[in-house]
Amino acid sequence: MQDTIILDVINVYKTYKSAGKSLNVLQDINFSIDKGSSIAITGPSGSGKTTLLGLCAGLDKSTSGKVILNNIDLTNLSEDELAAVRNQNIGFIFQNFQLMPTLTALENVMVPLELRREKNIKSVALDLLDKVGLADRSHHYPVQLSGGEQQRVSLARAFSTKPAILFADEPTGNLDGETSVKIEQLLFDLNTQAGTTLVIVTHDLELASKTNRIIKIRNGNIISDEPTEKALKTIV
Ligand SMILES: Nc1ncnc2c1ncn2[C@@H]1O[C@H](COP(=O)(O)OP(=O)(O)OP(=O)(O)O)[C@@H](O)[C@H]1O
Ligand SMILES: [Mg+2]
Repeated sequence: MQDTIILDVINVYKTYKSAGKSLNVLQDINFSIDKGSSIAITGPSGSGKTTLLGLCAGLDKSTSGKVILNNIDLTNLSEDELAAVRNQNIGFIFQNFQLMPTLTALENVMVPLELRREKNIKSVALDLLDKVGLADRSHHYPVQLSGGEQQRVSLARAFSTKPAILFADEPTGNLDGETSVKIEQLLFDLNTQAGTTLVIVTHDLELASKTNRIIKIRNGNIISDEPTEKALKTIV
């Protein structure tokens, strides 16, 4: 793997088995992502975007093929090893947030930092909540937050460790226009200031056009993989 590549997806297939039937959700997926770049993954509902993100982030295993992240082959790692790789390298914003219901907003943001035994955890977490506009909601539990607020907590949690790569599944899907713009700004700031590679699943073509590259998926296949106009302008 070249030093400039952070993620390599090689001949990846995913088949789900349920009720005695096999469902081929991803077929022969191949791509690699440059360190520090930003890419958008788009495609219709059910086309396999969330599944693909989960495989890339070591949250799930492919049926066949390889995922190599930051020079680490995820294929044969145990659950514990995968959890450590995620904590050291990855931020993930889930489509359904996946906040811990028994922890407050602040405590949710603190979890990845505690796992890394970092210092000043509380003030870092409070600062992040402030950045996503939730300083006054830090002691709320997830059920006491709106969908968009939960999404923003999930974002603050994903940012907390300044990960090498951030996977975001519809990060602005539940937000109003004004909040979306702020959140997008935070994502791209993380990209330019901390060098975090961004992989964003989105239906929002405007957001997709702000990245360097768009991968389109249909029925579990990549149907196009092209630089955006923004990327082409930077090259010229
Ligand atoms: N655990 C599972 N078991 C069986 N089938 C699954 C499972 N998870 C997802 N699927 C199926 O795999 C397909 C792809 O799902 P996925 O969540 O990746 O789609 P998506 O592109 O993210 O869609 P959306 O835009 O609606 O979020 C869907 O048809 C879904 O029903
Ligand atoms: Mg999805």
